[in-house]
Amino acid sequence: NWSMETFVDKEIQRIRGVVGETGRVIGAVSGGVDSTVAAVLMKRAIGDRFHAVLVDHGLMRLNESKNVKKVLDEQLGINLTIVDASESFLGKLKGVTDPERKRKIIGNTFIEVFEEQAKLIDAEQSEKIEYLVQGTLYPDVIESISFKGPSATIKSHHNVGGLLDTMKLKLIEPLRELFKDEVRKMGLLLGIPADLIWRHPFPGPGLAIRILGEVTPAQISIVQQADHIYMSELKANNLYNQISQAYAALLPIRSVGVMGDKRTYEQVIALRAVESTDFMTADWFDMPVKVMKRISSRIINEVHGVNRVVYDVSSKPPATIEWE
Ligand code: XMP
Repeated sequence: NWSMETFVDKEIQRIRGVVGETGRVIGAVSGGVDSTVAAVLMKRAIGDRFHAVLVDHGLMRLNESKNVKKVLDEQLGINLTIVDASESFLGKLKGVTDPERKRKIIGNTFIEVFEEQAKLIDAEQSEKIEYLVQGTLYPDVIESISFKGPSATIKSHHNVGGLLDTMKLKLIEPLRELFKDEVRKMGLLLGIPADLIWRHPFPGPGLAIRILGEVTPAQISIVQQADHIYMSELKANNLYNQISQAYAALLPIRSVGVMGDKRTYEQVIALRAVESTDFMTADWFDMPVKVMKRISSRIINEVHGVNRVVYDVSSKPPATIEWE
């Protein structure tokens, strides 16, 4: 008879068996559910011989890297290195507006930065890092064996698989038999805070694909502030947990407005909220008008550079969840 407790115990024993008494493992963490659950499991299995790396590409949500440090390092005791690589990412993204080019640049730079960090960690240790842990879930395993889902072929997805070849790392996938709801259950059992367990997914390329057109520090700051207001209001109005994924996108279109007695000519924030079970299809969320009113007036009043807010009423298909 199957229980999550015995599954966790067995998985920890299996990891110990694979890695041995001295082996070292590295893994990228993002602050999302899957990578956090995988990291805590590794920590339980081999302690500080698991090295978690957060690559801060400068495209994360407001205060995200600080928050990840607080939870993973301070609360969960994971051996975590945060690499601030935002200058490198933003430098390479300068002048780039094409969505696929943004994705490729970010994916490649991510691997470069991660690999460089792995070498630094290696240099400090007597035992080389031999394994890479990835939070691959059962649905991803199925998708890559049998067929490529729509998003995999329409948008190039972000992963660190390239490291297996260049660094000759071997792969550990402790979540590969689990569905998302089981990963959440495991996460709660492992003592991960509930608000992290119930977080909406966040794409690997981060805010770069939620800022249409060129990604600049000023644009990042606008979308971070708008998104922060949006998420705070969804939580305050008990809507966050009814929605599968919500975020603010910045459209680099200017429209005319009026503030006090002055004409403004500023950009647009698009609010997205969807309900979905597998993210292959999604319906736009029926947002209460009262809440939309409050979010819109807060964003326009509090975020400098925005004078118009719109709500995205497109389902997937034919639209996708992300705008790029
Ligand atoms: P789309 O936009 O294809 O998104 O409807 C479906 C789901 O995938 C997420 N997404 C990504 N996740 N790396 C990720 O880890 C990526 O490159 C990526 N692109 C999209 C998106 O947020 C949604 O949940």
